[in-house]
Amino acid sequence: MKQAAGGRDQGSGARPRILIADDEPSLREITRQLFTKNGFDVVVAEDGLVAREIIGREFLDLVLTDIRMPRLDGVGLLRAVREMAPDVTVVMMTAHGTQDSAEWQQARELGARALIEKPFRNEDVLLQVRQLLESRRLRHENVVLRHTTAEQQFAGIIGRSPIMLEVFKLVETVCRTNSTVLIFGESGTGKELVARAIHDQSLRSTRPFVAVNCGAMPETLLESELFGHVRGAFTGADKDKKGLIETAEGGTVFLDEIGEMPAAMQVKLLRVLQERKYRRVGGTDEASCNIRVTAATNRDLPKQVGEGKFREDLFYRLNVIPVKMPPLRERVEDIPLTAEHFVAKYNREMNKAISGFTAEAMAALRAYPWPGNVRELENTVERSVALESGPSIGVSTLPQHLRDRRPATTRPGDSIADTGQGFNLERHLQDIERAHLERALERASGVQTRAADLLGLSFRQFRYLVRKHGLKRE
Ligand SMILES: Nc1ncnc2c1ncn2[C@@H]1O[C@H](COP(=O)(O)OP(=O)(O)OP(=O)(O)O)[C@@H](O)[C@H]1O
Ligand SMILES: [Mg+2]
Repeated sequence: MKQAAGGRDQGSGARPRILIADDEPSLREITRQLFTKNGFDVVVAEDGLVAREIIGREFLDLVLTDIRMPRLDGVGLLRAVREMAPDVTVVMMTAHGTQDSAEWQQARELGARALIEKPFRNEDVLLQVRQLLESRRLRHENVVLRHTTAEQQFAGIIGRSPIMLEVFKLVETVCRTNSTVLIFGESGTGKELVARAIHDQSLRSTRPFVAVNCGAMPETLLESELFGHVRGAFTGADKDKKGLIETAEGGTVFLDEIGEMPAAMQVKLLRVLQERKYRRVGGTDEASCNIRVTAATNRDLPKQVGEGKFREDLFYRLNVIPVKMPPLRERVEDIPLTAEHFVAKYNREMNKAISGFTAEAMAALRAYPWPGNVRELENTVERSVALESGPSIGVSTLPQHLRDRRPATTRPGDSIADTGQGFNLERHLQDIERAHLERALERASGVQTRAADLLGLSFRQFRYLVRKHGLKRE
């Protein structure tokens, strides 16, 4: 069963996909078998035009093409690849030439990576293709890494921690395939952002990206949203309606909160994934679709499978490539650059010129566990940019629950600890504490219970601190 194949792909991305174009049937068949047996996904074409059509439609890693072919020759095909899918590696094959033939010279100028002379030994071709794919993979990794370290982001996803670099690499790999991707992660970790990035970086990017929230609507509505309905299918269905799958034709359907999908819909979705077929609500005809499916969940889906709440077969179909989005608290080192990214964003939106955060404010951001992850951070920054009247966001502008979390001592990397000689940290923290108490008392017009509330302290704690700093004024 295909399901098992899905399981094997985990983590490492999809199997390499190659196209073999040759007008000689026996050669096509032998090479097809050779590569299939060795773990490749193989597509074949009997001439250049058929090959060109496949290249326009499918995601490929490498094209192995004969030079002399009817209708469109290998060099013509190579030109088409450069135009339509410049990223694809091309290898030429010929029975009529050598490394110094004019055709090969031309092909090499157009970017062909190797020439294989027929007849060839299976091991040689296999080795050469593997080496080319490996160097291509490394090249890609370098692109991602360079990009990320320079810009601290990848396709709009901010992050530079090792755990995020892994995510970027995976996204980069999967966007060149058609595989189904399942994105796991807590709320606000960027699951939808990643789904969009996968679409935007893929060859489907010129086609629609359609997001459907499977948890937001009742079963019958979800079915007609996805599949569409025919006139008279139910009360109120006064005309035919296109489903989102049809709207997304050629593009990507993102099924958000897939863990909430009702059982009956799970069966129907399985059919879409297996056969790319579905039926409109109230309709009799089968419709076919060409869509890529990505899905996301913040639930423990394997557990739901174990409890019989989610179909196992559907889980395996969806989980061809799992992407796990880490919670923000597991990549604290990304907090400063992410927060600063949002400051820049809201400066632009609100026409302000906040320069960033004070050291104390940044320490508070780093110390807070961010249960709502990047979404919560973004909301916090937005609010702070709006409220801040000074040049940079100070700790007093941050919401109460963040200020309470401020660590009593600093941690490595906190700029507050880097201030060099003569700096008395304990004294500095005392000053901050005192300033806080004063401000709270001022805002509460001297009413201590209110000031304690503002700071999220019990009255006893508050009284203790007030006494300690000698602020008491009855
Ligand atoms: N790494 C990141 N860099 C920049 N922005 C991010 C990042 N992660 C998330 N965001 C932003 O945070 C917000 C929430 O992200 P998103 O909607 O993708 O989360 P989610 O995982 O789908 O959450 P939920 O499970 O609640 O639907 C969005 O505005 C998104 O742009
Ligand atoms: Mg989401």
